[in-house]
Amino acid sequence: MSIKNCYEISLPLINDYRGNLVYIEGSNHIPFDIKRVYYIYDIPLNFHRGEHAHRKLHQFILAISGSFDLTINDGVNSNKIHLNTSSRGMYLCPMIWRSLTNFSPSAICLVFASELYSEDDYIRQYQQFILEANAN
Ligand code: TYD
Repeated sequence: MSIKNCYEISLPLINDYRGNLVYIEGSNHIPFDIKRVYYIYDIPLNFHRGEHAHRKLHQFILAISGSFDLTINDGVNSNKIHLNTSSRGMYLCPMIWRSLTNFSPSAICLVFASELYSEDDYIRQYQQFILEANAN
């Protein structure tokens, strides 16, 4: 898997005089069925999240409030994306090392996942990630 398989997705946004509405349909606006949703917030200043990869999991990540940087790395190439709008997020395919940094004070990171939580799906050591990424 390569970071070329990860891409930004703009979500449908309905705007009228009452404000904005954004919606997400699994397998329609994002390329997998949604089995789990979680969010990260109240991140202390200068702390980071992520620092792991997933073996099978597909994810869609967005800043539903505030902003943060998402760095994706396939073991060869990396790219840093600034997420700062609730109508656009990043699809991450499996086997991508991700780091979330530079959280603004009000940031909320919303994540849609293709599977239920499983610790067995995590690769938490970067050297192990490189081993498995090179074996694929
Ligand atoms: P982790 O995925 O390491 O957090 P992050 O990537 O945001 O830095 O998860 C932190 C802890 O929460 C870890 O003990 C696993 C647990 N967890 C669940 O129990 N269920 C979940 O759906 C998620 C995402 C994490």
